[in-house]
Amino acid sequence: MTNYELNMKYYFAPLEGITSYTYRNVHHELFPGLDAYFAPFIQPKQTHVLETREKKDIDPVNNSGITLVPQIMANTADNFLWAAQELAARGYDTVNLNLGCPRATIVTRHKGSGMLADLDTLERFLDDIYNGVANNGPKISLKTRIGKDDANCAQKLISLYNKYPLPELIIHPRTQKDMYTGTPRWDVLEDCLRISKHAICLNGNIFSPADHQELTARFPTEKYPNIKAMMLGRGLIADPVLHREITQNRPVTQSELKRYHDTLFKAWDALNYGTSTLLHRTSELWFYLGCMFKDADKYVHKIRKAKNIPTYQAAVEQLFEHCEPGGYFSAP
Ligand SMILES: Cc1cc2nc3c(=O)[nH]c(=O)nc-3n(C[C@H](O)[C@H](O)[C@H](O)COP(=O)(O)O)c2cc1C
Repeated sequence: MTNYELNMKYYFAPLEGITSYTYRNVHHELFPGLDAYFAPFIQPKQTHVLETREKKDIDPVNNSGITLVPQIMANTADNFLWAAQELAARGYDTVNLNLGCPRATIVTRHKGSGMLADLDTLERFLDDIYNGVANNGPKISLKTRIGKDDANCAQKLISLYNKYPLPELIIHPRTQKDMYTGTPRWDVLEDCLRISKHAICLNGNIFSPADHQELTARFPTEKYPNIKAMMLGRGLIADPVLHREITQNRPVTQSELKRYHDTLFKAWDALNYGTSTLLHRTSELWFYLGCMFKDADKYVHKIRKAKNIPTYQAAVEQLFEHCEPGGYFSAP
């Protein structure tokens, strides 16, 4: 293991719709070793009531033994601070602000990466939330993209963040317009790293040990000592031991992938949300997991199209019978 991997922290990125508490518990139980899991965002409303789903997801009882950082997406300081206090009351000493979600319905409401369009408004919001927690509130880390329509303001953005006492700044070096496609803008990240005075977590397109190696070669910690963590998302859903492969060079096995699938299926089934919700979830999972197998397209297609549980299970059995691991997730 190199110094890089020894000192680096590895986090599970939040993926709304997938990495809720049921998923996190299964992952943590089967493949421990990550330094933290980030929960998908909760979206506090004017009424100051959390949805049942949100309450369950961040309930410490449902996250026992896991280091969890809950995430808030809000566009008013009042709503943010209310949610931050709710989380602090449940024992969380750090909360994360979502400044990255690129979804149109979110962005048009000036939330997520929509907040990056107007830096003056963002500054007022940040002033209010950091003042609001100054005395006894939780710490606030940020997860940000590098701009809305383009990355011209990236350096201004990082300078703005420098004003506040963030415990950590997670940078996903894409703009809102980039969505999740193409290569992250590592050249812009380089500028950000030079300016930022905060501990940085890198995020984006780390899907394999080779991707990780490429990134560490480009951003060695000797030159960029503020890089303290890496956040893995889609790559880790596909390959649930990606962190172990990176740090210990131990690739995933067929039986581990089978156990990962079977345990998740059972845990999701036990929630009793009905067949169509269950198959919707497994279809999402296979969008990622399917990439791990060689020559598996026709099996993955059958699995994702299954309309009932027996058909689904038969298709899964066939895939595990005929396909070996041998790939990684690759972004569209
Ligand atoms: C389906 C989906 C849901 C996501 N949900 C969230 C979320 O709730 N909060 C967040 O900060 N990022 C969210 N993200 C972004 C990821 O956390 C991560 O930043 C992004 O996928 C880039 O990392 P990766 O290339 O390692 O996947 C989501 C991404 C996807 C594809």
